[in-house]
Amino acid sequence: MLEKIQKLLEEVEKLSASSAEEVEALRIKYLSKKGVINALMTDFRNVPAEMKKEVGMKLNDLKNKTQEKISALKDAAETNDSQADELDLTRTAYPIALGTRHPLTIVKNEIVDIFARLGFTLAEGPEVEDDWHVYSSMNFADDHPARDMQDTFFVEAHPDIVLRSHTSSVQARVMERQQPPIRVICPGRVYRNEAISARAHCFFHQVEGLYVDKNVSFTDLKQVLLLFAREMFGKDTQIRLRPSYFPFTEPSAEMDISCDICGGKGCSFCKHTGWVEILGCGMVDPAVLDANGIDSKIYTGYAFGMGIERIANLKYKVKDLRMFSENDTRFLEEFISAN
Ligand code: PHE
Repeated sequence: MLEKIQKLLEEVEKLSASSAEEVEALRIKYLSKKGVINALMTDFRNVPAEMKKEVGMKLNDLKNKTQEKISALKDAAETNDSQADELDLTRTAYPIALGTRHPLTIVKNEIVDIFARLGFTLAEGPEVEDDWHVYSSMNFADDHPARDMQDTFFVEAHPDIVLRSHTSSVQARVMERQQPPIRVICPGRVYRNEAISARAHCFFHQVEGLYVDKNVSFTDLKQVLLLFAREMFGKDTQIRLRPSYFPFTEPSAEMDISCDICGGKGCSFCKHTGWVEILGCGMVDPAVLDANGIDSKIYTGYAFGMGIERIANLKYKVKDLRMFSENDTRFLEEFISAN
């Protein structure tokens, strides 16, 4: 009996199988009710009493080792089988988790796309700017409050150098190197010295547009903005222009769109007015054209500017502006489907 057990033990150790079926055949041969090991268990009855302890231990050991061996063979056969089925030589060596586009980038791209279809080209410029491009060329008087420390971040020791507070500076840079027709859209980050809260931040993003040519009128401006509003917020969107003031445009206006949450009836989102403000606009002040080397006796133009965060808030109902710059991936992942 002991010899038999020893032989079987050696045999089991050498077992191999190349498929799940072969492993199953081995399991039946060794471990099933009618298998070799069970037969030995039956014979165990006839073992003389004084040898029972030793034989019993060896027999148990054989059973355990056989079970271990067969389950190891089974695991190996299973991974072999699934690898053979799904072997994909084009797969990368490790999985790559794709990131998501930032909601502000999604909205910026959408705005730029709409104006690109209307013939606007993209222009970009520096975030650290000189006073001329941000303010003087835009007809800000020397004592205009926007130049004050409360709004503008100045670069220390260089009072002439600022973090731009609007992307109108890019329009100035376009006008100084190009004669009309000019039709540009200027997206970018801007900085203002504001206390950070749910509604304000020390930086945000803008898209500004400029169109200068012969005979450009306020009607052209209204038409382009109406088209933009309907592309961005849906074809039933209404617009409303209210008189306003900017140093660089005359006349100036602020544009509201009909509130798409209540359909214009009035809700807490639109403060029960049925309208929400989305941008500033106007006819380029002739003084701005002349300051930037464009003859205001020949050309006229319009300009508009909007905050991307504001548009994103309207589209995605983000309550707290700070969410946009905290990079919390749980927030960012909500925009996967919008990518
Ligand atoms: N530059 C203005 C701002 O930052 C926006 C604007 C642009 C208004 C063009 C009118 C025309 O608030």
